[in-house]
Amino acid sequence: MSALLLIAATGMANLAKAQSAERYNIIPQPETLTPQSGDFQLTNGTTIYAKKAEAVGRFFAAKLSKATGYNIQLTNKKTSGGIQLLIDKKVKGEEAYELSVMPEGVTAKASTEKGLFYAMQSFLQLLPAQVESEVPVSGVAWKAAACQIQDKPRFDYRGTLIDVCRHFFPLSQLKKHIDMMSMYKINNLHLHLTEDQAWRIEIKKYPKLTEVGSWRRTEYGRTGGFYTQEEMKELVKYAEERFVNIIPEFEVPGHELAAIAAYPWLSCRDLKVEPRRTWGVEPIITCAGKETTFQFYRDVVDELVKIFPSKLFHIGGDEAPRIEWKSCPHCQAKADELGLKDENGRSREAQLQSYVVREMEKYLNKYGKDIIGWDEILEGGDLNKSAIVMSWRGETGGIAAANAGHRVIMTPGSGGLYVDHFQGEPALEPQGIGGYAPLSKTYGYEPIPQAVAEKGMGQYVMGPQVNLWAEYLPDNDRQDYRLYPRMLALSEVGWSQKEKKNFEDFSRRLDTDASIRMKLHHVNFHIPLPQQPEGSFDFVAFTDQKAVAFETTRPEKMVYTLDGSNPTPQSTTYTAPIIFDKSGTIKIATVLPTGDMSRIRTIRVEKQQLSPAAAVEGTQLGLKVQLVKGTYLKTQELANVTEWDNSRVIKNLAELTKLGSEDYAAIASGYVKVEKDGVYYVRSNNVEVWIDGQKVVDNNNTPVKTSEPNGGSIALKAGLHQIKVVYINTIMAGRPADWGGSRIHMRYGEKGGFPEVKAEELFHI
Ligand code: ACM
Ligand code: ZN
Repeated sequence: MSALLLIAATGMANLAKAQSAERYNIIPQPETLTPQSGDFQLTNGTTIYAKKAEAVGRFFAAKLSKATGYNIQLTNKKTSGGIQLLIDKKVKGEEAYELSVMPEGVTAKASTEKGLFYAMQSFLQLLPAQVESEVPVSGVAWKAAACQIQDKPRFDYRGTLIDVCRHFFPLSQLKKHIDMMSMYKINNLHLHLTEDQAWRIEIKKYPKLTEVGSWRRTEYGRTGGFYTQEEMKELVKYAEERFVNIIPEFEVPGHELAAIAAYPWLSCRDLKVEPRRTWGVEPIITCAGKETTFQFYRDVVDELVKIFPSKLFHIGGDEAPRIEWKSCPHCQAKADELGLKDENGRSREAQLQSYVVREMEKYLNKYGKDIIGWDEILEGGDLNKSAIVMSWRGETGGIAAANAGHRVIMTPGSGGLYVDHFQGEPALEPQGIGGYAPLSKTYGYEPIPQAVAEKGMGQYVMGPQVNLWAEYLPDNDRQDYRLYPRMLALSEVGWSQKEKKNFEDFSRRLDTDASIRMKLHHVNFHIPLPQQPEGSFDFVAFTDQKAVAFETTRPEKMVYTLDGSNPTPQSTTYTAPIIFDKSGTIKIATVLPTGDMSRIRTIRVEKQQLSPAAAVEGTQLGLKVQLVKGTYLKTQELANVTEWDNSRVIKNLAELTKLGSEDYAAIASGYVKVEKDGVYYVRSNNVEVWIDGQKVVDNNNTPVKTSEPNGGSIALKAGLHQIKVVYINTIMAGRPADWGGSRIHMRYGEKGGFPEVKAEELFHI
């Protein structure tokens, strides 16, 4: 090839590269991005001109210097070849910006510092992802792909709720989320600060709120913590520097058992309680009849408004059972005084809750605040137009509120915005509250419901929010795992124009770029796991031949080994079901284009003979039970029990959970009848299930058995087989064992549902 041709070919390649989407990985997708040829090269001499936006300039100079090792400085002179941040009132919109990245220099324009901040966040995403490193990275070509961007958000409000009450998270963890939110242009952190299980913010007038109310009793002792006012002010400042607004949530009138534990007079009957040990809806709520309750509300607000400058203030309002109010003389007197009657399908008590909401609103309005409440605040009627409704029980509340002219924030669990839900097959995921919201579901959410759009009321939708409730998030890693990458999907749902959304392209940007950035911020993000299409099991029994198939919740490469070694990104790529005619072990993981891998699954595939049926006579329905009172957490602890009570027979498994009101452990034994020869797949929320002496289900390391974790399988001949079920009745990880009942599901063969083992199938002699 001649030199000239080579140059032409290279030029063409560059042009092709310039036009290809792969050079541009920005999340959320900008309104318009026009590719340009070439790159802007960041060098040790690059300067930032930011005369009218010095704080923003300094923020990014420091950030760029840290990762590159260069000394990027602010300059007073507009110099060619550098970066300029210009306040330009012609750019309309508080968060809008224009960004020109050319080989000759970078210019960001916006009418506000916030707009310039977002322009620079986009610029960082045009640079290699290593720009998010806290320490200098060598060997990186610090080039930003040239382009012209015009950008503004679709919705003013993009939010993330963090629940710091069910579990406590340190300030450093919250700062990490704020960093990630600001990178992805999410502008509101809704901080859920008060709950039945804990009160998390120092209130100087009521010191017991944190002395007593911040600590919850668990099977492993006391757990908890709180933020001092100084710490919270520090967090607010940190967030402000990143243009994230922190909305405090102080829940009234319900979800306040921790406050009642500190100050019993807050309840209708002055009850002496402790912060709630278990999850779920607490029936004891604050009294709406006593003036002291309202004084408490006002005092708390007085202190919170000094910490949180946010114009928006969340007053809760959800899941307040109002049962106590019905028989409380104070509440009833208040309802009489207000002249409340059961009418229009609204109880006096529902209207009393509305009164509480309006009192809170009046008081907060004096501070110039707008209130937000969960969609229950619509129930009692008479809601002021200024109140903002947060739609969580589906979209019904949001639709009703928007169509009635209230501003709404959409965060429906049914829309994939409850990011405490599972994002992969529940049997494989860490324990959770339930629900299923894979990344594609969160990404696919449309914040303006059809019924609002049809009425032309879309402007009342402020925007979407993901909610990260923390019942099942005991630590930072678990919290990250649920929030990421779904929070990045929310970023695009809230910011990008509807017609710009494309899940496949979002996944590409996520996997090739954002995943590196998340890792540099020490975010333990979710990577889809290899799942078995008919239900995942780590122990697969077979009799003749078995093909084990895998898939992922979104297309990703999977790698595996069959020799017992841990797979690496270079291991065999999964392309088709893996065939076994003798026993073996699969180790399989998902690998991203970056080389990052999911957790490795180990699946034992075992060739078995059909286990023969038991030849027993004189069987009767039911299982025999051994019972011992006391608190046990794992089955090993039962090995030392010598005094069992053997007096009971249960007719069905559900009875296992009803053998006493105190903590106990029980072992049910007998026979299970199966109709056909073949392989049976077994799942259970019990601690252990044994069939014919094989431990088929072992949940000892799964304290919370909501999702019937990964079970096992066994080859059985038709007939009766010995069964042993271990059940432990106690509260583990905030969940009483009896909430899920006691169930065993068995599937015959490779496909179909998992019918529950019925009473008619259980026997003893
Ligand atoms: C909620 O999830 N209870 C608002
Ligand atoms: Zn009361």
